[in-house]
Amino acid sequence: MNKIVIRGGNKLSGRVQVSGAKNSALPLLCATLLAGGEHRLSNVPQLRDIKTVLQLLEILGAKVESDGDTVAINADKVASVEAPYDLVKTMRASVLVLGPLVARLGHARVSLPGGCAIGARPIDLHLKGLAAMGAEISLDHGYVEARAEKLHGATIYFDTPTVGGTENLMMAATLAEGTTVLENAACEPEIVDLATALNAMGAKVSGAGTDTVTIEGVEALQPMDYRVMADRIEAGTFMVAAAITAGDVLVSGAEADCLEAVISKLREAGAEVELDDDGVRVKGPDEISPLQIKTSPHPGFPTDMQAQFMAMLTLANGTSVIAENVFENRFMHVCELQRLGSNIRIDGKQAIVEGVDQLLGAPVMATDLRASASLVLAGLAADNTTEVSRIYHLDRGYERLEEKLLALGADIRRVQVD
Ligand code: UD1
Repeated sequence: MNKIVIRGGNKLSGRVQVSGAKNSALPLLCATLLAGGEHRLSNVPQLRDIKTVLQLLEILGAKVESDGDTVAINADKVASVEAPYDLVKTMRASVLVLGPLVARLGHARVSLPGGCAIGARPIDLHLKGLAAMGAEISLDHGYVEARAEKLHGATIYFDTPTVGGTENLMMAATLAEGTTVLENAACEPEIVDLATALNAMGAKVSGAGTDTVTIEGVEALQPMDYRVMADRIEAGTFMVAAAITAGDVLVSGAEADCLEAVISKLREAGAEVELDDDGVRVKGPDEISPLQIKTSPHPGFPTDMQAQFMAMLTLANGTSVIAENVFENRFMHVCELQRLGSNIRIDGKQAIVEGVDQLLGAPVMATDLRASASLVLAGLAADNTTEVSRIYHLDRGYERLEEKLLALGADIRRVQVD
């Protein structure tokens, strides 16, 4: 198992290139199931989650060829409709094949994702929506099965805005008979990216990025040739890396429009943030000001940036309060940050972070994807050496993180542990 070893204290500086967005590439890859022919996706990040979804597409019968950040997928011969447990258990986003498979083949059998480290994360809203579109849903032996000769349009209200649910139903509705309206839909930029790609395939999706998305079903779709948007969470993580080390980093390719809440909170913490055509430049403050943060669906503060901001606020000049409103149980990084000498208390949905003068390097363990990023960030600022183990979590969602940080001047290396 690999670990990352960081000697903290270096101020980061220079330019770093953001990769393609994992959370956009995953649904886009699943959307290729909607049409036969040769799809081509570029700016696809090379990550473990992407490998998992490509493996899933192959199991379903698609032909996949990767060349660097470009992936060609031929979905002519999609024959199987089953997403097996072994894959779904390693990556929840595998449920995104449900909508496309039912829409194109009339049948899907997908393992239930089961528990997840950051909360229960059910898929009830995905299933309720498919049922409203005429699918028969059944559960057996840990699998959810959906069948419909032809889905039909419906008006679907989400009790809570769900990113995956909005994406799944948006894809399913592209080939349904009639019009589907998704109300209280999630507004995340990745949903806009998916809608843009679907429209390029010949779908009729409007309103993506607002809380009402309308999809007029069409008879058939064409393969897509599409470039995945930049990863706003990776970009945000580098922005915090600049801030926590009092560095000066140009995050090239970062799309400021997608990062408004993050930029606003970084400025409030005292960082200088400049936007230009190439990306976002962050100069860290000499002293970090404490913040009040409440995570919420886009355009609110992203839950996927909560852990990274917490790492930064452990060194703030005062008390910060972070409320996690999207997922329950998403404070697992707290115990590990405490091992580095931070002062954090959890009170229900809130974490109260009393800033300390100095973090002290220690061995810590990653618990989930964004939690691992927060430990790396803390390690960059901590005194002495921090060793982050279980970094397979990190490899699910950050492309060559240690290489990129090294190029910015961090003292960081990956070590193979037997
Ligand atoms: C996606 C992102 C993840 C991010 C999250 C919230 C991907 C691959 N992952 O996850 O990185 O943290 O959005 O921004 O894009 N819910 C239900 N029933 C459902 C579906 C969701 O109750 O059927 C609840 C969840 O438990 C959670 C909330 O809705 O409390 C939001 O979850 P959702 O937006 O669906 O997250 P994901 O799509 O899984």
